[in-house]
Amino acid sequence: MSIEQLAETAQALVAPGKGIIAIDESIATIGKRFAGVGLDNTEEHRRRYRELLITTPRLANHISGAILHEETIGQKTRDAVPFPKYMTDHGMIPGIKVDLGTQPLAGCPGELVTEGLDGLRTRLQAYYKLGARFAKWRAVINIGEDIPSGTCIEVNAHALARYAALCQEQGIVPIIEPEVLMEGDHDIQTCYEVTEATLRSVFGALYEQNVLLEGTILKASMVLPGSRCADQVDVEEVAESTVMCLKTAVPAILPGIVFLSGGQSDEDATAHLDAMNRLGNLPWPLSFSYGRAMQQAALAHWAKDPDRNFAKAQSIVFERARANSLAALGQWEG
Ligand code: 13P
Repeated sequence: MSIEQLAETAQALVAPGKGIIAIDESIATIGKRFAGVGLDNTEEHRRRYRELLITTPRLANHISGAILHEETIGQKTRDAVPFPKYMTDHGMIPGIKVDLGTQPLAGCPGELVTEGLDGLRTRLQAYYKLGARFAKWRAVINIGEDIPSGTCIEVNAHALARYAALCQEQGIVPIIEPEVLMEGDHDIQTCYEVTEATLRSVFGALYEQNVLLEGTILKASMVLPGSRCADQVDVEEVAESTVMCLKTAVPAILPGIVFLSGGQSDEDATAHLDAMNRLGNLPWPLSFSYGRAMQQAALAHWAKDPDRNFAKAQSIVFERARANSLAALGQWEG
């Protein structure tokens, strides 16, 4: 696989006005989302719901790719078209979540490490054959009393870099996602410092492990006050803090940065992205790779009557994609 092909895929993922839809929830996590709207977590419900999302008419106008779960990449539409083929035929790039989730980090109470490196090369070869051209690995950094530790940041950064190097070896663009969680009562300055330290460690590890930045995408969390912080801030402050933090820690050669929504409301996730892009003078495209902020309104509507509400739920997905696409251009009007 050539460097040019990796770079081309990375650039296509963040083409102007395009973002990614994250639909890679684990079976346990989608179960929680389904339970919230009164749906049973059956394989057919998961298949049908992912079909609804992927086959949304004209989705590719605003969406460059979708991150699938391992189960989903092997599933088919009702007309028996494999999901990755459907996506490729309709101008979207199939992606795959390859980490195996988090486990408590031994020796570091309250902290997590992401697992899934053993056997990853073989799994990537299989995903490539199924059509995946990009992947995702999510590391989780918790903010709390005396955490994160340097150890937690370092081991997660090291694992992200090992994953990224393996992906590139197999012709797959790695999305590296070090998520600094919103949960907590910390202020925005604390989030800024933790995010900066995390990004510096991640890009240091990528450099040490010979990861090609031109063929890598960063999936970042925004710099926000904790969800229980008394001192919430306005949209402009989030936008300015996030862009400043990224500019200090992320090399300009990176093809693009996409954000996770992390539990923000649909409106906030869109408004923050739009405000960042309106700042202008950015070294990289800033776009979205939202899960909840792309899906939650559509899921709630679909669940009320899955047969009758299928098309309407798709139009809700399309509207979220369109709004976030405008925000990625700094042209969202609210
Ligand atoms: P949210 O946008 O719901 O945070 O999900 C994005 C994601 O892929 C988290 O890993």
